[in-house]
Amino acid sequence: MKEKILELKGIKKSYPSGTLLMKRTEVLKEINMNVFKGEIYSLLGHNGAGKTTTFKIITGISKQDEGNILFKGKRFSLKDKKQIGFLPERPYFYEYLTGREFLEFSANLFGIKADKKKIDALLELVELKEAQNLQLKKYSKGMLQRLGVAQSIINDPELIILDEPLSGLDPIGRKKLRDLIVSLKEEGRTIIYSSHILQDAEIISDRIGIIVKGKTIMEGSLEELVSGEVREVEVGICGLRSLPEEINYLKSEKKANVFYVTVKDIDGANILIKKVMDSGGKIKFCNPIRKSLEELFWEIRDENIGDS
Ligand SMILES: Nc1ncnc2c1ncn2[C@@H]1O[C@H](COP(=O)(O)OP(=O)(O)O)[C@@H](O)[C@H]1O
Ligand SMILES: [Mg+2]
Repeated sequence: MKEKILELKGIKKSYPSGTLLMKRTEVLKEINMNVFKGEIYSLLGHNGAGKTTTFKIITGISKQDEGNILFKGKRFSLKDKKQIGFLPERPYFYEYLTGREFLEFSANLFGIKADKKKIDALLELVELKEAQNLQLKKYSKGMLQRLGVAQSIINDPELIILDEPLSGLDPIGRKKLRDLIVSLKEEGRTIIYSSHILQDAEIISDRIGIIVKGKTIMEGSLEELVSGEVREVEVGICGLRSLPEEINYLKSEKKANVFYVTVKDIDGANILIKKVMDSGGKIKFCNPIRKSLEELFWEIRDENIGDS
């Protein structure tokens, strides 16, 4: 059993709202998270779902109204903050500093000795060695994000929290940052990052939590979340002149004596396969198409959107 590094149980948070600030809006209604050591955890949710608020609570920037946070099984305390690195959603960079100076400055802020070797290693890790003496105003968004990640691990934290690290990056920038996140995991760290880019979550995360309007709706590995759900089944059939009748084909196409058909589910595929065999035909392939994370995400969002 893997060690649980972080657990959020029933986190609630409200803010004053309305013109006279008399009313309160419940921004987090019920956030639950279970993060295991050494994994990449994606916190997914639409804009305004409560991702940043959740991160502020985990990093101790703001305090929950209700609910508990456990760090390595114990109630989260201020000294645990030292073991958490954080990249905010819109980090602030001093644009006249160079990349190297920025990291030295950040190390000083943490009261860490910024020895040359450490800064070199960080620059190497985030692939900014060549750009180390360039002023930050000349950095691309992707380079700044990578520098932000370097800063977030300057105190050598076990758990790293990255708020929307991939948003606003071009495909190459995204790939580099994804690779960087994976290399942090390979160093044995745990990474939690938020995103609304589902494809990235599908590529790199071990586990996923989905929040809709301040509530955790689902949590689990990608497989647990989407694998059970077969959306439709593609079947390739050969050795027949025409397709068996009385089957509900969603799609059918014939190419070079092979029928490529799609049926609704596994039961439909089984009935079809039996008919094909009975008529002397052969199955070339049978491919269940699973629901993608994207489809699941939209479905649960639509289901929960009225629930405020
Ligand atoms: N300090 C605050 N005061 C009042 N409302 C806030 C505050 N911070 C966030 N909110 C509101 O909480 C909701 C969730 O925000 P946020 O956590 O930033 O969502 P996300 O990061 O998922 O986009 C939003 O509706 C936002 O307007
Ligand atoms: Mg946010």
